[in-house]
Amino acid sequence: MAKTAVNVTLKDVAAKAGVSTATVSHVLNNTRFVSDELRATVLRAVEATGYYRNDLARGLRRGKTGIIGLMIPDNSNPFFAEMARIVENRGFASGYSVILCNSAGDPTRESAYISALISKQIDGLIFIAAHSKGPHLMALRQRNIPLVIVDRDLQLSFADTILVNNETGGYLATKYLIDLGHRKIACISGPSDVTPSADRVKGYYRALQEAGIEIRDSYLTSGGFQYQGGQAAMAKLLASGDNLSAVFACNDLMALGALSQARLASVRVPEDISIMGFDDIQYASIVTPALSTIAQPVDEVAASAVDMLVERIQNKVRDTEARCIVFGTRLIIRDSCSPLPRQGAGKTQ
Ligand code: RIB
Repeated sequence: MAKTAVNVTLKDVAAKAGVSTATVSHVLNNTRFVSDELRATVLRAVEATGYYRNDLARGLRRGKTGIIGLMIPDNSNPFFAEMARIVENRGFASGYSVILCNSAGDPTRESAYISALISKQIDGLIFIAAHSKGPHLMALRQRNIPLVIVDRDLQLSFADTILVNNETGGYLATKYLIDLGHRKIACISGPSDVTPSADRVKGYYRALQEAGIEIRDSYLTSGGFQYQGGQAAMAKLLASGDNLSAVFACNDLMALGALSQARLASVRVPEDISIMGFDDIQYASIVTPALSTIAQPVDEVAASAVDMLVERIQNKVRDTEARCIVFGTRLIIRDSCSPLPRQGAGKTQ
């Protein structure tokens, strides 16, 4: 039966090139010097036979597949899309292929993906949780598969963790609005069971308390980190009759939704109401008015996650203790916030 490209082996290439299988292996893996002439002969034989290295078989032999997983909770959110882009770039540059899994916020789906990734013999996993619990991650621990937790803290003693300082970010956003003279400041939070949203709300409260501003329950509402959630939250806030002058949304997608809803209600931004976001996704600078927001260092977070995971995979970390890195955030001032109009100039506080 004629050989199909699928079952061409190293031996076939060696026979075609008239060399040993060891020489073919050294050429393909650059594991020993081979003359240019001999290298060219082997590569011509590879092309002629249609040989492809069977990475799965090689991985099983070596116990390493050169594949890492990335789990994100929402691939429709530009924040996670950017995270995935950088992880894939960094992984490729480090010699790893990346399998991207979208849990869509569903713990059952998340668990199913963990099982699938383990069965594919991944070398390690970068994990952004859909919620604050991660029991199914123990399966990775039991198999000594390195794990890096990103963005949503799970307090796991067996995993490295990379976060940003969300409480300070929420504080900076709110203090910026307070410094513009706003006192009736609402907050649109994300899911209550993920640490980034909960910590940003803590920062919002700290800034209000520090300024001696009354905290009202009606000023806090949730948008689930979704665009439509931001629209619905803004509709509720505008209907409350609280005469708000500013809104801090705990991510840019909800801030964009709030902006859209304000426009539908003929509420001018920032003249009538200021809107602040968090993330600094690409759309924040494109939308009109351009969104003031809190920037997360996504590039540094994503690159560090890959670097830390590769160090674990390649046993380059002496310290078996779990590492934790917390990056800062930055206030980005654009056009969606303005000072509270002076007394008598229309809006009052
Ligand atoms: O926009 C999505 C949000 O979920 C981001 O703020 C990020 O921190 C993640 O928690």
